[in-house]
Amino acid sequence: MANTPSASAPTAAPSTLHLSAPGSDLSVDLPIVDGAIRANDLRKVPTEDGGLLSYDPAFLNTASCRSAITYIDGDAGILRYRGYPIEQLAGKASFLEVAWLLRHGELPTQPEYDSWVHDITYHTYVHENVKTFLQGFRYDAHPMSMLCSTVAALSSFYPSAKNIYDPEERNLAIIRLIAKLPTLAAFAYRHIKGLPFVYPDNDLSYVDNFLSMVARMTEPRYEARPVFTRATEILFILHADHEQNCSTNAVRAVGSSHVDPFSAIAAGIAALYGPLHGGANEAVLRMIQDIGHVKNVPAFIDEVKGGKSGRLMGFGHRVYKSYDPRARIVKALADEVFAEVGVDKDLEIALELERIALSDDYFMSRKLYPNVDFYTGLIYRSMKFPMDFFTVLFAIARTAGWLAQWEEMLLDKEQKIARPRQIYTGPGERPYTGSLVY
Ligand code: MLT
Repeated sequence: MANTPSASAPTAAPSTLHLSAPGSDLSVDLPIVDGAIRANDLRKVPTEDGGLLSYDPAFLNTASCRSAITYIDGDAGILRYRGYPIEQLAGKASFLEVAWLLRHGELPTQPEYDSWVHDITYHTYVHENVKTFLQGFRYDAHPMSMLCSTVAALSSFYPSAKNIYDPEERNLAIIRLIAKLPTLAAFAYRHIKGLPFVYPDNDLSYVDNFLSMVARMTEPRYEARPVFTRATEILFILHADHEQNCSTNAVRAVGSSHVDPFSAIAAGIAALYGPLHGGANEAVLRMIQDIGHVKNVPAFIDEVKGGKSGRLMGFGHRVYKSYDPRARIVKALADEVFAEVGVDKDLEIALELERIALSDDYFMSRKLYPNVDFYTGLIYRSMKFPMDFFTVLFAIARTAGWLAQWEEMLLDKEQKIARPRQIYTGPGERPYTGSLVY
């Protein structure tokens, strides 16, 4: 039905899609704009159910929105936040500067930045009742479960956040969420460890304050190791946004019902909790620990290639068909961190896995390059974070992107409440017999 490009030469991108159907007088021209047709235009093609649908499980070839926030070219291994290459932001910008950029579209001026940092710094506290809420969890509760629940609970503490079209309320809710995610994450960590909560220290930077709330013991002021502060800042920047990934899609879909942003972000945390999404760096570490020693790597690789072992976790990406640009940065960061804390057997295994994967045609031909998760887990582990906390760190960072995407969705006049269609595969009409005895 659609234009079939001639097999001989590559065709220029058409500006119109002409639809026709053999044996019918169908003749429909659909405009192609920005490389896409409007799916609703397909309804011009008559079917028994009132018009043609597009069927796209998991929306892998469906643009759900127009967005100016993040640009990815998976084939070229490009990732840009508002046009700035990730390689230039990571290691030079601060995470809060990037959070501003993602939301506002431009880098902040110094006064804007100073005011932004001040506002976030002075919103890091949470209501004391949140501590009681957190103490209701078992000692072995998963921190993502605690974070998801607690962020959702914050909507009850800030009911005015429901006024999502009031710019001041929206701005305050965004500040509160960026400010309080580290506090909630650190409180969850301390609860699991059976340690007293450490309150925010407003004289510290965003990252150092987080590390202080996680690790401070009896010292009057926690001094994070500079290499860990730098690593956390860079990893937060790398994880801040990634266009329409699963959790961002969840935030946009839930936010499209015009619920408050705390509830929409809780939906993003729930999606990120899934092992196919945020849990990937945890899965990398489990794989490395199962391998156990660098001498076992060749046998493991053979098993992966022979299909006898699980996936090579931390390699490949549904979007990047070349090297994940974030992975290159994280690897250099890992080298920095391990130069200071020492190379351990897990890093040796990781380096050998990468060496083989980058030289073996089996992986190269399948575009199985290391992704951002491959080294991230090793860095977090060197900072003594437990594995089930890695995704919490991802959630702190991604909150900046989720909020930028959420606000962009709200202000996009084309957006409505998310309501996909379906292809019904169930039974036709049948009578209810009501044979049960109650
Ligand atoms: C992400 O950063 O969200 C992950 O790479 C997953 C994705 O983009 O699909």
